[in-house]
Amino acid sequence: MSLPPEFLDDLRARIGLAAVVGRRVKLTRAGRELKGCCPFHNEKTPSFYVNEDKGFYHCFGCGAHGDAIRFVTELDGLSFMEAVKSLAAEAGLAVPESRPDNPEARRRAGLYELLEAASDWYRGQMQSVGGADARAYLERRGVSAALQAQFGLGFAPDSRDAMSKALKAKFETVEPPQLLDAGLTGEADDRRYDRFRGRLMFPIHDARGRPVGFGGRILGAGEPKYLNSPEGPVFHKGRLLYNLHRAAPAARKAGRLLVVEGYMDVVGLAGAGILEAVAPLGTALTEDQLQLAWKIVGEPVLAFDGDGAGMRAGLRAATHALPLLAPGRSLALVALPKGKDPDDLAREGGKAAVDALLATALPLERFLFDSEFNAGPLDTPERRAAFKARLKALAGEIADQDIRRDYLHTWLDRADEMLRPARPARSDRPQAAGPRRQGPWHPPVPTARPETRAAARQRAEPTPGMLLRTLSQHPTLVEEVAEALAELPISSASLLLARDHLLRGSRAEPLLSGYAPLFKDVDSEDVLRNRVATAIAHMTESHHLGTEEQQPSDVGSPDDFAREWERQQSRRATRAEANRRMTALAIENDKA
Ligand code: UTP
Ligand code: MN
Repeated sequence: MSLPPEFLDDLRARIGLAAVVGRRVKLTRAGRELKGCCPFHNEKTPSFYVNEDKGFYHCFGCGAHGDAIRFVTELDGLSFMEAVKSLAAEAGLAVPESRPDNPEARRRAGLYELLEAASDWYRGQMQSVGGADARAYLERRGVSAALQAQFGLGFAPDSRDAMSKALKAKFETVEPPQLLDAGLTGEADDRRYDRFRGRLMFPIHDARGRPVGFGGRILGAGEPKYLNSPEGPVFHKGRLLYNLHRAAPAARKAGRLLVVEGYMDVVGLAGAGILEAVAPLGTALTEDQLQLAWKIVGEPVLAFDGDGAGMRAGLRAATHALPLLAPGRSLALVALPKGKDPDDLAREGGKAAVDALLATALPLERFLFDSEFNAGPLDTPERRAAFKARLKALAGEIADQDIRRDYLHTWLDRADEMLRPARPARSDRPQAAGPRRQGPWHPPVPTARPETRAAARQRAEPTPGMLLRTLSQHPTLVEEVAEALAELPISSASLLLARDHLLRGSRAEPLLSGYAPLFKDVDSEDVLRNRVATAIAHMTESHHLGTEEQQPSDVGSPDDFAREWERQQSRRATRAEANRRMTALAIENDKA
């Protein structure tokens, strides 16, 4: 929707930038401009300049820049239209009917209007008698009425047409295709129905604060837990961040932006007074979303859930950021305590707990190094050399020359320092200090204890590294297992990138230094194909069964032994079944 440019010019002239800014910032004259302390970030010496003639402000500290309308949207978290309306009211100007200029713009304007009305309606439903369950649910989860209002939370009643009827009554001209385009209805067997039914509604806004879609959470248990708007003319999951329009001003001010996994995390953090949090919409962080975050702060902090999936999401974001790094642009990463998400932490420990956790965030550089360092034993010269080769390959992903060179030096220096051969053993020193500890790393001293069965099994089992090495030698197989490959539980940066390179058909070899292939001397493609399928099934199953995270420890009492034995039997059975299925599949594929 667009307003006539003459009107906006008139509005800017009438209100005066200095007057608007001056209400919030103490300004002093500096030559032809005015200056003050920037309201968008914390500073003690003024670097915020207002140029009345040009009608623009600019901060040399944080890069905030804009006109009077932008100032109000950014500082108060208002949408463009809201800001215009409020400034116009002050100036005593009437806002003209906005008139979309072409059919496409008109269509989009109609969708925004519909989505806004739907959001209002869902909010109203929450306050109605029918919203009692939703209100009770939120109360149980500690979301106050104020917080609900702040995020515009609503409720979609369990009805197939209540929402569309309400919108049709409000807009006499609304056509069913518009509701479909807005993602508000679905279609099955030629019948239309409201998409969101019996769900708690989180409106999702674009950067200008217009509602463009919804995330709907089921009240209690059920599938799917969250239903999101489908992709459409105004809703693009990969290009939006939940809460961005509210978080941006707060983030500029605080000098930090948090990226968390879920809507409820954002809401929970706001409840604890942390307003500078955003979330992707149920997918891995995309390049567009990273760029959005970088427009606001140079180093957004990714906080991922304290489980295997959360860790892998963090790793994926970290590796995908490498080619995009630029001077002043990076990431920091922090894992939540095991089994917790930011919402839990905020509710249990408040702002102090979240701040304390964030203080432990690792720079991207360190996070990646640690992931590689912890990927396997580094107890022989060959393994240490392979580790360094992988670090080099990882640094090679960085496009910016200066940054790439610095990563390489930093990593290799640190590797040398941490891998320095053990000095004569001192009993008070830990034998295998992790990379976060101070001082050099000492290769573990071999013990005389016999190998546990667990260790022996682990050694015999295929690992993602071995599989990827095999595939890099037989790239024709990659396509056949692509789907499973994308799901492979991977826990190091080099392997994750190697997997992505293989899937894209590019070279992965340098990232796989130190990993042996699964089998030697297999000459038939068919045999190889079957074995690869089996290995993948095995890894995926053992992952789902949790063996990745919890290796059985030494067996103690007879009771423990019996339990452990049973556990292993059942794992074996599940795995055998998985292998059978995968092998059958591989054979079927062969025939086809
Ligand atoms: P989580 O399962 O971590 O949910 O999903 P949560 O945010 O902690 O929510 P609560 O606390 O259980 O209510 C994280 C995000 O993944 C997306 C949503 O964006 C969610 O906020 N998601 C999750 C979906 O899109 N669909 C689902 O079925 C589940
Ligand atoms: Mn949660």
